[in-house]
Amino acid sequence: MKKYYPLLVLVCCIFYGFKNVIDPLFKVPENWPKPVYDFKKNPLSAEKIFLGRTLFYDPVLSRDGTISCESCHLQYTSFTHIDHTTSHGIEGKIGNRNSPVLINLAWSRNLMWDGSIHHIDAQAISPIENPLEMDEKLSHVVSKLNHSQKYRKLFYQAYGDSTATGERTLKSISQFLLTLVSSDSKYDKVMRKAEKFNEYEQKGYELFKVTCAVCHTEPLFTNGSFENNGLEPDSFFKDGGRIKITRNKNDSLKFKVPTLRNIELSYPYMHDGRFKNLQMVLFHYTNTIYKSKTLSKHLQKKIILNEQDKNNLIAFLKTLTDEKFIRNPEFSYPQ
Ligand code: HEC
Ligand code: HEC
Repeated sequence: MKKYYPLLVLVCCIFYGFKNVIDPLFKVPENWPKPVYDFKKNPLSAEKIFLGRTLFYDPVLSRDGTISCESCHLQYTSFTHIDHTTSHGIEGKIGNRNSPVLINLAWSRNLMWDGSIHHIDAQAISPIENPLEMDEKLSHVVSKLNHSQKYRKLFYQAYGDSTATGERTLKSISQFLLTLVSSDSKYDKVMRKAEKFNEYEQKGYELFKVTCAVCHTEPLFTNGSFENNGLEPDSFFKDGGRIKITRNKNDSLKFKVPTLRNIELSYPYMHDGRFKNLQMVLFHYTNTIYKSKTLSKHLQKKIILNEQDKNNLIAFLKTLTDEKFIRNPEFSYPQ
């Protein structure tokens, strides 16, 4: 029998196609779809992930050494900020959007609220070079890293060569971001039949499946599309969302459907942080849907929820909180 093993492996490889082999360091949770990130172009290693993590927490990425990625993406709130509606960057400059949580990015085809970025390996340039965020040049970051003993050592450990390059810097940051997988909430345990919802959570889950899941689709709690969920256009930022990228008027007021994992922790809500809590979000879906040409067809019909329904729905949403994720020492400030 043993002599057939190599043949069996070969047949399996052909069957799955070599390109479908996911990185050995990346564990896809049971019954989840395949990640969209192509790990072949940036195979994970513990050293590269550690380098990326070190960079994520280091204000060296900003012009004046005051802002790190963590300034707007804090682990204990699932890698977002909760102290203001839109984010604050260098010299207290105020940005025009709320920072999203950083969760399960290996499954994200489009990044940013309007999908302006298609590839996570290119993502970090945006905050580094944004004048309201870190206001630095990637080339200057690379030069600073090449002058640092600490980073020369870390690059050597990761790449077998102590030179920092733009590509290595960005790809290491991606590696860290890709490891931020949240799949151990109560909801996940219930799906794995290791725990049970209580009566309220169960009722909330039933309501969620009929009212919200078309867009906030399990198990990622987003379908990855751009939708207009009926927010009244804001008169201050005048943010049209997706239309900024496509210039297509059918995309006006559409934003990327955000995941709802860890939603209990990531207030305030929406691209501009307009709602302080989940009660306000539900009040929006039941009472203040703003009718416009691009309003999603799924929200044309009024959503009716009584107080008990709303409490049940919120009880369900809280089962998406993943304590292990926000306390995972592998994601925290590197020691
Ligand atoms: C000043 C605050 C700020 C800093 C600093 C910052 N970000 Fe962000 N981040 C944001 C905001 C705001 C958005 C949403 C931007 C948009 O939609 O236009 C965002 C979006 C993202 C996204 C897209 C997530 C998604 O689901 O679409 C990723 C990934 C990300 N940031 C990673 C980083 C990394 C890595 C760094 C450090 C290199 C960083 N951020 C620094 C505020 C910040
Ligand atoms: C038609 C698609 C659609 C449906 C249906 C829908 N949502 Fe959303 N949801 C969105 C979009 C798009 C956003 C982001 C909008 C923005 O910020 O401009 C969003 C944002 C949210 C947010 C804020 C997330 C964050 O990180 O800021 C919460 C919470 C939320 N929805 C909960 C729900 C609940 C609960 C339901 C069911 C009652 C629901 N949604 C139904 C598309 C939808």
